[in-house]
Amino acid sequence: MGGSALFDEAMLEDPYARYARLRESDPVCFDERVGAWIVTRYADVERVLRDPSFSSVIGADASSGAGDALRHLYAFVHSSLVFSDPPDHTRLRALVSRAFTPARVEGLRPWVGETVDRLVDAVEPQGRMDFVADLAAPLPLSVLAGVLGMTADPGEQRRLKAACDDFLLPFGRDPATLTAEEEARAARAGEVLAGTVREALAEAADRPGSLLAVLSGASEDGDRLSREELFATVVLFLIAGHENLTSLLSNGLVALLGRPDQVRALRADVGLWPVAVRELLRLVAPNQFVRRVAGADVRLGDAEVRRGDAVLLVLAAACRDPEVYPDPDRFDLTRPRQWPIALGRGIHYCVGGPLAQLEAETVFARLFARLPGLRLAEDHIEYVPNFNVRLVKRLPVTW
Ligand code: HEM
Repeated sequence: MGGSALFDEAMLEDPYARYARLRESDPVCFDERVGAWIVTRYADVERVLRDPSFSSVIGADASSGAGDALRHLYAFVHSSLVFSDPPDHTRLRALVSRAFTPARVEGLRPWVGETVDRLVDAVEPQGRMDFVADLAAPLPLSVLAGVLGMTADPGEQRRLKAACDDFLLPFGRDPATLTAEEEARAARAGEVLAGTVREALAEAADRPGSLLAVLSGASEDGDRLSREELFATVVLFLIAGHENLTSLLSNGLVALLGRPDQVRALRADVGLWPVAVRELLRLVAPNQFVRRVAGADVRLGDAEVRRGDAVLLVLAAACRDPEVYPDPDRFDLTRPRQWPIALGRGIHYCVGGPLAQLEAETVFARLFARLPGLRLAEDHIEYVPNFNVRLVKRLPVTW
């Protein structure tokens, strides 16, 4: 089996040196192990994301390494919004966007603030915490559960989070490394998740104004979400809307703590936090890559990509392309404003972007205001073996 440019242990610790090398000398290269073209330059990544001839639909090939139980789960996840093309995508997206408007997200600001404060209150007197376990992991699911109108009970939220984590075990991995035990855990978690979402949907009518209630009643030109689509959409929200935010918060905090001068500027002017969060998204790009399949033969850079070929668009590499971002490894609050490609581009641009940004702004602003001496308690940072979403295992901090 040949080596892989992406699925390689060394990439967990620091993928950026290799991204830079690929971007420079082999910007569209075929990875035999992954069975896909790896695309690392901003211009190529953006071009593919905006090109309707590339498909987001995932065929059986993507789950060929999985056992029966998992193939069933994959098939279900693959029927959701993020893995669909127009016209299905257009209809689903219109329904979801209608339920998830910027005004609705902005209205959540005070409640998100209270939720963050509650988590900080719980650890403040201790003078230390594991930022991942105490804040970055529980917050996103707690916010999502609130927005969707699902459980407010912290114990149930923890169980739901554990189910989401287990369900995601096979993703972002070399399938050959997945153990039978992990596969069984993922399959069990899928059942738990499905049961919880079904129960919540049955009770949605009792929670008017919740995202679940809005989605349940959603219609566009008389075209409603079918029951299966509704179910797949809710599960997609739960799994698409929290791990990457956990990644942004933890890797973002590491980046901020490495730049005390910038943190001083942010403390002096809290109005800069939205800019800082966009810059952090660029710098830490939680979803390192997204996948597409070529719908036609196409020339990409020097490569001849054939119809049916899979393409991995490395958002994290595009985010540090010096052609677009001079001195790309530097956290810089003065970069010209633009929407980070870390949230995608084109028709699949992240639906939850405004919510993710609101949560990150709130966490960082409150954290640095409330815990002025905040610093890392350990130098070494260990990463979860997931090549797609870059997750820190634990992040002990003191103040
Ligand atoms: C820092 C946090 C987040 C990051 C980095 C992120 C990243 C992304 C990216 C890169 C895509 C595009 C996928 C593609 O083109 O194939 C995407 C789509 C999506 N995201 Fe996010 N996301 C984040 C937070 C959220 C949240 C909080 C939610 C839900 C509340 C969410 C829901 C979705 C959905 C539903 C899609 C599919 C949109 C479509 O296919 O039209 N995301 N996200």
